[in-house]
Amino acid sequence: MKDLKIITRHLNTANSADIDVYLADGGYQALKKALSMTPEEVIAEVKRSKLVGRGGAAFPTGLKWELTRKEKANPKYIVCNASEGEPGTFKDRLILKNDPHMVLEGFIIAAYAVGTSQGFIHAREVYTQEIELFQKAIDQATERGFLGQNIMGSNFSLDIQFYKSAGAYICGEETALFESLEGHRGIPATRPPYPVQVGLMDKPTTVNNVETLCNIPAIINNGADWFASIGHPDYPGTKLFCLSGNVKKPGVFELPLGTNLKDLLEAGGGVDGKFKAVLPGGISSSLLTETDISLDFKTLAKAGTMLGSGAVIVINSDTSMVNVASNVAHFFDEEGCGKCSICREGTRRAAEILSRFSRGQGNRNELEWLLELHEVMKDTASCGLGQVALNVAASAIRNFKGEFLAQVRKEEGVWLR
Ligand code: NAI
Repeated sequence: MKDLKIITRHLNTANSADIDVYLADGGYQALKKALSMTPEEVIAEVKRSKLVGRGGAAFPTGLKWELTRKEKANPKYIVCNASEGEPGTFKDRLILKNDPHMVLEGFIIAAYAVGTSQGFIHAREVYTQEIELFQKAIDQATERGFLGQNIMGSNFSLDIQFYKSAGAYICGEETALFESLEGHRGIPATRPPYPVQVGLMDKPTTVNNVETLCNIPAIINNGADWFASIGHPDYPGTKLFCLSGNVKKPGVFELPLGTNLKDLLEAGGGVDGKFKAVLPGGISSSLLTETDISLDFKTLAKAGTMLGSGAVIVINSDTSMVNVASNVAHFFDEEGCGKCSICREGTRRAAEILSRFSRGQGNRNELEWLLELHEVMKDTASCGLGQVALNVAASAIRNFKGEFLAQVRKEEGVWLR
C-alpha cells in the first residue's frame, strides 16, 4: 500500500504530458465509462469512494457536486483551483506539468456530474511552463473529441477556459478567486451562501483543487470500493505531501493519507539536523513538536493543528522560532486583502511586534496580547486567511516561550504602547 501511486504514477514516463502517452495507459477510458453512466450515478460513485477535497479543507467531493447539481439556477459553473499559494505547497504544479490530461479527464467528468458546459481553471501566472503544457493539453483533448461539442459522441459539451492570476495568495480563497475571474480585485465574500448555491457570476459553482480532480479517473475506472479501501478509513486514498524545510531530501511524496509523519520524514531522507518542530499544513497550521502522529485531518485537528494541503515544513533546532513567527506574520500582513479591520490591523500589529522581538526589542506583555489577538482573529476574521494568520505565532509562543523571553528588551518598563 505504501508504494501505491495514483496521481504520480506517470511521473517517470517520458513525454507524460502528451495525449498519446496518456491514451496508451488507458487515458480517457474513465471519461468514456462516466459518459455511459448518468450524472447521478457518477456522483453516487464518488460519494461512496469517500474522496474529500485535497486543497486543504477536506470537504466531501461527491457531496459538493451533488449540492451544485441540485440547485435550480442555471447556468452552473465548475472551477479548477490551481492557485496554490500556501508557502510550502508545490504539488499542483507538479501534476499540471507532468500529467495535465489526468487533471483534464477528472475535470471533464466533474463537469458532467455537476451539469455544466463551462469550466475555468485559475492558475498562478508564475507557473509559466505548467500553463503552456496545460493549454496544449486542452487543445489536444479538443482535437480528439474529449472536449468541446458532443464529447465522445454524447450530448455533453464542455468548454474550458484558462485564467492566469497575478498570484495573490488571497485569490486561492474560492470567493476571492471568483472576483479575480470576473476581473475584480480579489476580496473574499462572507459564506454562506456557499459557492454551490451562489458562486461564479452568482451562479451555482463547484470549485475543486487540481489534486482532488486527479483522483476521479482512478475512482471511475477502479470503482469506489477500491478507493475506499486505500489508507485511512475516514479519508481514503493517497495524498501528495510536500516535504520541505530542514529535511535531507525535500520534494513531493505520494503516500496513503494517514501515513505516520515518521514514515514521511524517512521518505525524505530524515531531518537535516535535530528535529525541533513541524508545520504539517504549511504556515496556516500550528506547530507540532512530535513526529509519531498520523497525517490525517482528524488526528491533526485533535492535536490542535491541521493537515491543510499537506505542506509539511520541518524545522530544526538551529532555527529561531522568533524569526519563524516574525516571517510568517509578515507574509500574512503582506497578503491580506485589507477588507476586514481585525485582519488588516491584527496582522500589521502582530508583524510589528514580532519584528521587535526578532531585533531583541520585545516587550514581555505583548506575548499575552498576541495570544489574545490570535483568539479574537480566529473568531472574528471574515475569511480563512485572518483566522489562521497567527497560528504559527501563537503556537511558537506556547511551545517556545523561552526563546521569546530571551528577546525581550533589557530596560523593560519604559516601553511606550
Ligand atoms: P471550508 O472548510 O470553509 O470549505 C471547503 C470547501 O467546502 C469550500 O469549497 C466550501 O465552499 C465547501 N463547503 C464548506 N461548507 C459547505 C456547506 N455547508 N455547503 C456547501 N459547501 C460547503 O474551507 P476554505 O476556507 O474554503 O479553505 C480553507 C482551507 O484552505 C484551509 O484548510 C487551508 O489548509 C487551505 N489552504 C490551501 C491553500 C493552498 O495553496 N492549497 C492556501 C491556503 C489555504
